[in-house]
Amino acid sequence: MQIKSAEFIVSNQEVEKCPKDNFPEYAFIGRSNVGKSSLINMLTERKSLAKTSGRPGKTQLINHFLINKNWFLVDLPGYGYARVSKSTKKVFQKFITNYFERREQLVLAFVLVDIRHKPQKIDLEFMEWMGQNQIPFSIIFTKADKLKPKAIDRHIDDYKTVMLEMWEEMPSYFVTSSSKSIGKDELLNYIDEINQAFYEGN
Ligand code: GTP
Ligand code: MG
Repeated sequence: MQIKSAEFIVSNQEVEKCPKDNFPEYAFIGRSNVGKSSLINMLTERKSLAKTSGRPGKTQLINHFLINKNWFLVDLPGYGYARVSKSTKKVFQKFITNYFERREQLVLAFVLVDIRHKPQKIDLEFMEWMGQNQIPFSIIFTKADKLKPKAIDRHIDDYKTVMLEMWEEMPSYFVTSSSKSIGKDELLNYIDEINQAFYEGN
């Protein structure tokens, strides 16, 4: 899929105020600093469409980006950011869970995980919560430029082993790097297939 247009539409904390359009929507979620906003910029080839930062906790709202005028990419705040206050964390958690529980246009969430790390409890628990709430998700491994190919394979194998303790099968997954544009076509083609099924079925 070619990206012909990518525009920021709206930011907010309330799922009720998200765009009303019935476009298929894909949300990026994961720990703070994992690279959600950077990946949106990489996919759309817009350097600063989504705001990024070396410091965790940059994205603080639900951000809708309209792509090719017929689907949305959604940038969300990260979870697991230790330096925000407990009360801020609660507000974050509440509007993020509201978003996932109530957003009817959401067709798929992408859970981003840093490929360099061993499977983290917070990510595994989040995926478990998604499963319990029947919210479909795929996994995106980020920052693949930081590892050599063999290490990438090893880390993915380790991830699969841990996932298979909890799930019957490994969800579909993608290996990406925003700084090296790795995984762009695979991800966009995957989204394109789902979009096509969405529009044929509607
Ligand atoms: P929050 O909004 O705080 O939840 O973070 P985020 O998940 O949106 O992360 P963001 O995209 O802001 O990136 C965090 C940091 O990781 C920045 O310094 C990015 O430059 C860096 N980063 C993101 N993706 C990659 C990548 O693929 N490779 C490398 N080397 N660095 C990356
Ligand atoms: Mg962000």
